[in-house]
Amino acid sequence: MKLRKLDLGNKLIVAPMADVSDAPFRKIAKDFGAGLTFTPMVSAKGIIDNEFHALRIFAFARDEKPIGVQLLGNNPEYLASTVEELKRYKPDVIDINCGCPVEKVTRHNFGAQLLDDPILMGKMIEAMVNSAGDIPITVKLRLGKSDGKINILETSRVAEESGASAVIVHTRTKDTKYKDDPTWEWLIKVKDHIKIPVIGNGSLFTPQDIKEMIEKTNVDSVMIARGALGNPFIFNRYRALIENGADPGEQSLEEIENVAVKHTRLIAREYPEAVATIKARKNILWYFKHLDGIHQFASIIMRTKSVEGEIKMIHEHVEKLKQNFYPKDDRELIDQKFKERVLFWLNE
Ligand SMILES: Cc1cc2nc3c(=O)[nH]c(=O)nc-3n(C[C@H](O)[C@H](O)[C@H](O)COP(=O)(O)O)c2cc1C
Repeated sequence: MKLRKLDLGNKLIVAPMADVSDAPFRKIAKDFGAGLTFTPMVSAKGIIDNEFHALRIFAFARDEKPIGVQLLGNNPEYLASTVEELKRYKPDVIDINCGCPVEKVTRHNFGAQLLDDPILMGKMIEAMVNSAGDIPITVKLRLGKSDGKINILETSRVAEESGASAVIVHTRTKDTKYKDDPTWEWLIKVKDHIKIPVIGNGSLFTPQDIKEMIEKTNVDSVMIARGALGNPFIFNRYRALIENGADPGEQSLEEIENVAVKHTRLIAREYPEAVATIKARKNILWYFKHLDGIHQFASIIMRTKSVEGEIKMIHEHVEKLKQNFYPKDDRELIDQKFKERVLFWLNE
């Protein structure tokens, strides 16, 4: 897929994910074959005001390119100034978040709240495009506010007419959040409706899901969020599926162990020890979420007070898994909880 001069080489994009798509996460995803990664959403105002937290969120290293930075905001002038400021750091793509349904975002008239105001959305995109120069601007959308207010054909057309280089369509409404199956028919309609590339997003958990979405809807690329948590393997499995015609299948326990340890060490390099210990927890647990003993492992990891301690616990857990130490878990229930609650999936 081409976005202005940027040729992504493959169709796999890592979604912006608050508190998740940080540099270690992005590096692992890239190593496994993602073509483009995104920073979590970052407040446009935070960047202009030089707030440490905002600057930290979008900081990226040169070897992470191509990389996209996602902005959160609603004021065209502010967004134009933020893009001007961001240009100094040379991101490859800048996205505007028009899809986040979380209350603390929508209450400020950001994210999915903007779906109700395509005129403002158009002004924002135009302002960003005008100050972006060669950097492509993308727009991350949901289908609409609710089932009765689906306006994706209108918002995607507004994005195109305002100069966006692509739209990302999460095939749910603001109100559906993560419930219900995503509705791919809308991707087909959007593809027919606009000429700029369309990136499909929503419930891609396996290489086969990715292949099916691309084949059935003709989207130009896909964006993956939950399907990549503890599962960077999805990227190289999809590439193998396309290039060799066969999915190599689930990775071995040893590979999961190695990658979980590598990811944890990258987190330790990125953050002070106390912060790293906390940030590593959720990632470590995601790597083992499809295997037995996850609740027992979680209670140990949650109490572990250092990164080295966590790594030791990973090895011990793997040994126990090899010895079939744990009773069988209810796979379906755990999977369902993970998909609905993501960050809090292990809570009762
Ligand atoms: C932990 C988490 C954090 C997220 N943060 C963001 C964000 O910062 N910006 C955004 O546009 N979407 C965010 N999302 C939504 C995802 O980018 C994506 O649109 C959504 O999860 C649907 O994709 P999936 O079915 O592959 O998970 C987040 C999702 C998750 C699970």
